Amino acid sequence: MFLKLKTSFFSRLDVRLTLASTLILLALSLGLCIFFYMRIEYLLEKQLNRILADETHELLDDIAEHKNVIRGCQMFESDVARRKYYQFEFRVLTAEGAVLYQSKRAWKMPFPDQGHKREFSTVHVPGKSMPYRLFERKMTLDEGSDLYVQIATEKRQEKDLLDRFYEHLLLAFPVVLLLSLLCGMMVANKPRKIIKGIARVANRISSQNFQERLPVPPAPDEVQELTLTINSMIDRLEKSFGEIKQFTADVSHELRNPLFALKGTMEVALSEERDSTEYRESMAECLERVNFLIKMVNDLFLISRFEMQKVNLDVTSFNMGEVVRDLHEFFLPMAQEKQLQFICERCDYAVICGDRTRILQLLSNLLDNAIKFTPEGGQVTIMLIKNESGIELQVHDTGIGIPQSALPHIFNRFYQVDSSRSASASGTGLGLQICKRIADAHGGMLSVQTNRDAGVTFTVMLPSQAKG
Ligand SMILES: Nc1ncnc2c1ncn2[C@@H]1O[C@H](COP(=O)(O)OP(=O)(O)OP(=O)(O)O)[C@@H](O)[C@H]1O
Ligand SMILES: [Mg+2]
Repeated sequence: MFLKLKTSFFSRLDVRLTLASTLILLALSLGLCIFFYMRIEYLLEKQLNRILADETHELLDDIAEHKNVIRGCQMFESDVARRKYYQFEFRVLTAEGAVLYQSKRAWKMPFPDQGHKREFSTVHVPGKSMPYRLFERKMTLDEGSDLYVQIATEKRQEKDLLDRFYEHLLLAFPVVLLLSLLCGMMVANKPRKIIKGIARVANRISSQNFQERLPVPPAPDEVQELTLTINSMIDRLEKSFGEIKQFTADVSHELRNPLFALKGTMEVALSEERDSTEYRESMAECLERVNFLIKMVNDLFLISRFEMQKVNLDVTSFNMGEVVRDLHEFFLPMAQEKQLQFICERCDYAVICGDRTRILQLLSNLLDNAIKFTPEGGQVTIMLIKNESGIELQVHDTGIGIPQSALPHIFNRFYQVDSSRSASASGTGLGLQICKRIADAHGGMLSVQTNRDAGVTFTVMLPSQAKG
């Protein structure tokens, strides 16, 4: 249990962000402190070097003034004894290394390394905890003899200052740690809240509840972009789920009527003893209803395949004029039976690339509709016009027409203008949806206009080369 709690605490985003930012901040602070420490140490040493060099000049001046090394050194020793902050030790040696003069405690200072180039160095004197800064210099007196001068002072002032700086750093460390943890927590809390909010809303969303949306923050930043993206994703999901629900409801509703009709016909047939002719008639009626159901199921299957983009067009090159003439020939008896005039007004020679069977299916439904919805004595016209970009096919009728209010819905699944209109009652309302999908799959367009006098005109525009 404890392990689980510990794990979940450290796996929290805000905790990890805080720890990461604190570590980065601490590393940076540490780097800065080391830099400043070294810089101060360097500057203090430089200042001490300058003081030692100045004191050496003073010693040389004293020797020059008294024209005697020993007298000059004595003078200098009494001078430096009065210095308030620094205690200096010094020694003067001959070129051969023999000591000419040295201050009281200078006997422990190292002798100069002949030929050694470094003038300044830090030396540790045995028995002294504090290191010394030492300045060594070779000089030539006026009479021409060479001397070595060594002058040194304890690095106490500098060490004290650096120690105090170090103590302050140690004191500041926990404060910086605490502040960086607090700041990190405050900064990391915002993304945590946003992510928790997203998770909460996402949890509430189900196929029954798509009303929830994430609150969009006002600042135009990545968080706003993320919430907008998620909201638009929920919009799309809501639309898709709505379509699926609608589809399921439509299909079950549309299947109920023909199934009940089929059941009724069977029940009537079985309700009493009948002769074989009556049974045959009932069977024929049942077969008609079953065929209707099969057509509906096939149409639905085709639509769902179009939706999943699984319909592969069998594209070939063919003369559209020939297809139109075949269709005219095929539908003419049907039109004549209904006392309609069926005219092929114009039929250009037009070779196009497309799926011949699907285009036949498209035009057949348009002609079937035109004949179905045009009353006796009316006229149906088909026209094929070739133009630069492709072809234009028009199916024109003088039938019952479509009200303006119904035009936007005419290509929807199962949509029938008014099922009480006797002719439309025989269809499934899927034909025009399939027509539109076939036209779209060819990179074309299907549209409808109501005629000024009577009826409607369906227009199919197809490019010379099909898309797929
Ligand atoms: N030429 C037309 N004149 C008047 N109304 C039409 C015409 N064509 C289509 N409609 C209206 O549009 C509806 C949908 O047509 P659609 O072809 O999709 O279905 P349907 O003909 O009823 O059934 P089917 O799936 O068997 O084709 C029709 O029910 C009808 O109300
Ligand atoms: Mg139809």
